[in-house]
This record gives sequence, structure tokens and C-alpha cells, in this order.
Amino acid sequence: GSGKRLAGKRILITAGPTHEPIDPVRYIANRSSGRQGYAIAGALAHLGAEVTLVSGPVALPTPPGVTRVDVETAQEMANAVATALPADAAVMVAAVADWRVETSDQKIKKTAEGAPRLEFSENPDILAMLAQSPRRPALLIGFAAETERVVEHAAEKRTRKGADWIVANDVSGDVMGGEANSIHLVTGDGIEHWERMPKAQVAEKLAQRIADAL
Ligand code: C5P
Repeated sequence: GSGKRLAGKRILITAGPTHEPIDPVRYIANRSSGRQGYAIAGALAHLGAEVTLVSGPVALPTPPGVTRVDVETAQEMANAVATALPADAAVMVAAVADWRVETSDQKIKKTAEGAPRLEFSENPDILAMLAQSPRRPALLIGFAAETERVVEHAAEKRTRKGADWIVANDVSGDVMGGEANSIHLVTGDGIEHWERMPKAQVAEKLAQRIADAL
């Protein structure tokens, strides 16, 4: 068939971690290289989609043909996602920090009183927000990194967050920052177990599945 199966389709992707500042020189973050999300963005653009990649801080080049919006925090990511709508599909790959910190304007100094106490508040769940939005993309895909009972947790996440598909990632091995991924695709029709394959191949297979669905 045609190589440009996704021509005319707008697809939104989040990738990478978010950084939540503590003070001007410190932050907390989730561990994420951004590689799987960037590979998916590239594979979708390769199929002709108009791809907007909302990216947290990563050390990766922008894939050819992809429009990239750089953000730092979860709140910035949520705003950038809202701005990028409407979209035919959204793939939320970012490892968003669940909490942000009450930030200090000045660098927190070491004192005789000992370690500071940090005040946390909850970040928006961007995937769940998008699922409830009147501008919800027709195909909404989330990711789930799990170390145990991978499929069970992913299926629960799919219904709780209102996603159409969950790409469940078994991270019990050496997936984090690595080259390969073990994937289970959880949809409304059931579960597909994919053989362990390189992240680029996961991206290509998922892009083809998205093209089938749109
Ligand atoms: O709850 P958990 O973080 O495991 O959910 C993972 C999925 O939800 C991913 O698709 C991730 O991008 C998305 N997510 C989000 N906003 C959050 C937390 C997670 O979009 N604040």
C-alpha cells in the first residue's frame, strides 16, 4: 500500500520526563530518556502524519518532519497539549511527574537546622484530562510502565483514565534508557503480546496500528 497512510492526520505526542523545580538550581523528575516517544513521533511523521511532539527536557534530536514544543514542567506540558488540539490521535508517552514542589525563589541554603522539608502538590493528569475534554482525540493512547502484573495494571489504567489503548511496557528488565522494549497492547478488543523488539520497531508497529485505526 501507500507509504503515506497518515497523510492529513494530526497527531499529538508527549515524550520525555517533566522537571519540577525545587529552587533555581534543583528539580525532581521521573527517569525517562524520551527515546520511545521520539521514535513514535518519527514513525508517525514518516507515514505522513502532521505530528506535534510536546517534549520534556531530553538530549535527543527532533525527528524529521516533526513539530516540537519544548516544555519543562507538567503544568507547561498540560498547557502545550491543550494548545496543540485538535488532533485525530494522541499518544501520551511522557513520564510526567505526579507531584510538583512548592518552589523557593532563592537557592535553598544548607543550614545548621538540617535538611529542608518540601511541600508537594498534585500535578494534572494530562491523559485523564484529555480523555474528559470536549476536544478529545478520536484515538487516545496512553503508556504504562510496570514491573509486575503488567497487563492487569494496564487494563485497569485504560478504564480509569479513559484511554482507548494502553501500551504496557514491562520495565522489570533493562528497558529504562535501553534499546529494546517488551510491549503488551491493551485495547477494548483484548490484549496483544508483542515479542521483545527494538524501540524503533515498537514505534513502527504502533504507527501502523494507528494508521489501521484512523
Ligand atoms: O499513572 P501513570 O503515570 O502510570 O500513567 C501513565 C500514562 O499517563 C502515560 O500515558 C503518561 O504519559 C500519562 N500521564 C499523564 N499525566 C500525568 C501522569 C501520567 O499524561 N500527570
